[in-house]
Amino acid sequence: DWNSGNVIAEQVARIREQVGTGRVLSALSGGVDSAVSTALVHEAVGDQLVAVFIDHGLLRKGEREQVEQDYVASTGVRLITVDARETFLSALAGVSDPEQKRKIIGREFIRAFEKVQADLIAEAAAEGDPIRFLVQGTLYPDVVESGGGTGTANIKSHHNVGGLPEDLQFELVEPLRTLFKDEVRAIGRELGLPAEIVGRQPFPGPGLGIRIVGEVTADRLEILREADAIARFELTQAGLDGEIWQCPVVLLADVRSVGVQGDGRTYGHPIVLRPVSSEDAMTADWTRLPYDVLSKISNRITNEVREVNRVVLDVTSKPPGTIEWE
Ligand code: XMP
Repeated sequence: DWNSGNVIAEQVARIREQVGTGRVLSALSGGVDSAVSTALVHEAVGDQLVAVFIDHGLLRKGEREQVEQDYVASTGVRLITVDARETFLSALAGVSDPEQKRKIIGREFIRAFEKVQADLIAEAAAEGDPIRFLVQGTLYPDVVESGGGTGTANIKSHHNVGGLPEDLQFELVEPLRTLFKDEVRAIGRELGLPAEIVGRQPFPGPGLGIRIVGEVTADRLEILREADAIARFELTQAGLDGEIWQCPVVLLADVRSVGVQGDGRTYGHPIVLRPVSSEDAMTADWTRLPYDVLSKISNRITNEVREVNRVVLDVTSKPPGTIEWE
């Protein structure tokens, strides 16, 4: 008798009870969980909620617009976007080590969030009502994995880039705590969220930053963004989204190989396609994509993306490979 309408009504009532007339802050990542939890809270308390979206420049093509335009249009959420692209790029300059990248991105994310938060708190306090609540899109599997604790940001650091430092004194609002991913998607659809957001595959908090093997630069991000957009478009066109858990597209920025195009020799970078099938990302198998789809993606990427002259397919399961390359 699970029914998304009932769950929404129940959660809305709970959120109202928890929050009262208090103000609520939410960080949108572009992903499903933060989008749905934020929309639920908005449904419950309207403009007591402010959502913050930090554009760290490591997003995929069109993601910022999807949040700023489609998400806002469908929910009416009050959104503040922070353009932090320059800050993240300079913080990442010269860094190739994956864990180092994660640390820097996590740190810069928190800094950017704290800046907006301070402004908002000052604004709210001037009206005599400090922001006390923070929305988190914690799902049931996250709760189980982290030992079932309540009330504090106890999400494993792996997933914590969209999370918050411990010293922030917020009471968490977690309307998805009893739900599984497919239930969250059903609720998102019921709430009228854009299909592109509700159906989105998992995407790591550090974004394209950990899909460039090598240093992250503006040019490399542009190359990867284009290649990724082509791969995503063609996989969706071919009706394969349901079969694929996620498909990282990776730029081997420090590798060059010789190619030939038109009547000239090229010396470009490889793009790796990493389509995987999985239940929970703990283990995964590489997805046996149809050759014609692979061929289409390969042709389009090498024709349309400058600097890419080779597309390769990752046929490694997890273990021993991880899903991401970094
Ligand atoms: P791996 O590469 O460890 O990935 O097989 C397992 C799942 O986790 C995602 N992932 C991340 N998510 N921050 C995140 O929020 C990260 O640093 C991170 N690294 C990997 C990955 O996309 C996959 O779904």
